[in-house]
Amino acid sequence: MKEFNTDEVNRLIRERRSIYPKMYSGEEVDDAIIIQMLENANWAPTHRFTEPWRFVVFKGEGLKKLAKFQSELYKELSLEAGTFEQTKFEKLATKPLLSSHIIAIGMKRDPNESVPEVEEVAAVAAAVQNMYLTASAYGIGCYWGTGGITFKEEAREFFGLGSQDKLLGFLNVGKPNLEKWPKSRRGPIADKVTWVED
Ligand SMILES: Cc1cc2nc3c(=O)[nH]c(=O)nc-3n(C[C@H](O)[C@H](O)[C@H](O)COP(=O)(O)O)c2cc1C
Repeated sequence: MKEFNTDEVNRLIRERRSIYPKMYSGEEVDDAIIIQMLENANWAPTHRFTEPWRFVVFKGEGLKKLAKFQSELYKELSLEAGTFEQTKFEKLATKPLLSSHIIAIGMKRDPNESVPEVEEVAAVAAAVQNMYLTASAYGIGCYWGTGGITFKEEAREFFGLGSQDKLLGFLNVGKPNLEKWPKSRRGPIADKVTWVED
């Protein structure tokens, strides 16, 4: 087993933060970092090696395509449902442009259904955490968002997903424009753990 600097590993995990698009500088993140994030995503644990994570990376003009697709889908579905809000539409049409890259997060269901769906979702979440940690290690901001069209069935095809698959949200990525790396909060781990020793 290789030796790691465990102090650094602990610090990376504990100081990883969600950095939101309004905190980005507008500069582009080097594709080489995005590629490292994706490579590390691919090393997430996976029961029966189903490797269910699928990603679509949007950058440049691609971000405009995503913005157009998601705002128009929202408009179509919300007009039908009578819930349309102009401000939501405008947010969906403009917000993607604040990010350098947006990685759509998909779960591809194993055709043999060799493991329960919840395990596939868990594996994708582990892959996303690998991307979060990699971004933090490079001083790059990212944040997993599940708003907008994420859980709309009609959205899946645009991201190359089929009817048994799931879109699990978007990892927004950008260079942070911050004076201080943000803090977060957690309740004590002791409240969430039971030890059985005898
Ligand atoms: C599955 C998942 C979905 C999330 N969706 C959203 C979201 O839609 N909007 C949002 O503001 N944050 C979202 N977050 C990010 C959380 O708000 C964030 O992780 C939390 O505030 C803790 O901050 P930290 O990541 O900096 O520790 C999501 C996180 C996870 C794990």
